[in-house]
Amino acid sequence: MTNTGNGRTAKLEAGHNQVTELQIMSGSVGPDVIDIRKLYAQTGTFTYDPGFTSTAACQSKITYIDGDEGVLLHRGYRIEDLAEHCDFLEVCYLILYGELPTEAEKAKFVHGVTYHTMVHEQILNLIRGFRRDAHPMAVLIAMVGALSAFYHEDLDINDPHNRMIATYRLIAKMPTIASLAYKYSAGQPFMYPQNRHTYAGNFLHMMFGVPCEPYEVDPVLAKALDRIFILHADHEQNASTSTVRLVGSTGASPYAAISAGIASLWGPAHGGANEAVVQMLGEVGSVDKIPEFIKRAKDKDDPFRLMGFGHRVYKNYDPRAGVLKSSADEVLELLGQGDNPKLAIARELERIALEDDYFQERKLFPNVDFYSGIILEAMHIPTSMFTAIFALARTVGWIAQWNEMVEDPEQKIGRPRQLYTGPAQRAFVPMDQRG
Ligand code: SDX
Repeated sequence: MTNTGNGRTAKLEAGHNQVTELQIMSGSVGPDVIDIRKLYAQTGTFTYDPGFTSTAACQSKITYIDGDEGVLLHRGYRIEDLAEHCDFLEVCYLILYGELPTEAEKAKFVHGVTYHTMVHEQILNLIRGFRRDAHPMAVLIAMVGALSAFYHEDLDINDPHNRMIATYRLIAKMPTIASLAYKYSAGQPFMYPQNRHTYAGNFLHMMFGVPCEPYEVDPVLAKALDRIFILHADHEQNASTSTVRLVGSTGASPYAAISAGIASLWGPAHGGANEAVVQMLGEVGSVDKIPEFIKRAKDKDDPFRLMGFGHRVYKNYDPRAGVLKSSADEVLELLGQGDNPKLAIARELERIALEDDYFQERKLFPNVDFYSGIILEAMHIPTSMFTAIFALARTVGWIAQWNEMVEDPEQKIGRPRQLYTGPAQRAFVPMDQRG
């Protein structure tokens, strides 16, 4: 519940001895905010914050991050507890509806998701229009956007029933579409979802099953994948979630908004980092090459960055990386890959980096992407699918934040301003007088 900071205000002197008083608002936990909505009207000046490092774009009740303490809460519950005691659809229910489900609520939600996993048969034809070597993220962007062409009744986003159906459809169909993208790239037949499987088990079945024989889901892999889904479910107003909110703020279709979120996530500075980490570890190749890469990461003239390190918010260990780090040991051991060289390189790279002044001064710690790719690779999931799996898991966060935005009476179309540094108005120059 937002309060107005007990009547506290911030006084701003914006030149000409003009003092403006701005309300301070407090949340339930975390930093207060200064309400600057009237700033331009009262002072004729904007704030300037490229990258939104100090800007709260909305109010939200879904996820809270304390970057200094390395804390991540979904509706108040620690990510470590959720990863330990829940499965992914249980966490989806929590993120969407605000409370952990009872047995009956969970069963109803799981049934609803399970019975929306199939896609329109025409989607299979659409995918066939791609080259076989299309990146799965390109396919995902296109196919999720295309869902808005198949579900016209969802386009009235002010109807809560339409929003609920779109929510189920997106969470349910993302694994199906992601696996279609993989099967198409592998030249293998598409696999239909099987309602008898769990959410993660169904994805493994659609990824690795073939029509000519039954596919037995490995419970170790399914559990590891389910935990990876949980750890990627939502994360406050990150770049892709902010993209979904901005697109959604115009009243666009939820499928179009989520498609934009997938596009934003693809970048190597964001969700594309898990793919980049595994490629980087492959490039490092051996523990003795680590110092060379650490040196490059610190060199301002070298665009190389230590992928999987650093974070806009976490200035401490990303709690998700902590869970994944221990999960990597467990899963690789169970898969008989305890001696995986990439895991050894990752651990030594982390140890050396965390002892290095450059990383310490800048509070650069491993983030969620640093260990996730090692686990996915050990599960024989192709590197090109890593970010697609991140998108699959983050869909619940995107759609929950989209619903919250639509239902927020204070939200309006997102339309930032700028500091203009181009030419002031000038006379037109006819062609024969140019040059
Ligand atoms: C995700 O926002 C979220 O919540 C995202 C996410 C989610 O769940 O949605 O958590 C998922 O995107 C995790 C981040 C994955 N990206 C990477 O691992 C790519 C590598 N990391 C960086 O590109 C970077 O750390 C960012 C993009 C993650 C954060 O960048 P910021 O906050 O804009 O910080 P910055 O670029 O201003 O860096 C501050 C300093 C700079 O040095 P100085 O100019 O102060 O000398 O730290 C340096 C940077 O050069 N730095 C790094 C570094 N990350 C930052 N130097 C080497 N290697 C790195 N990885």
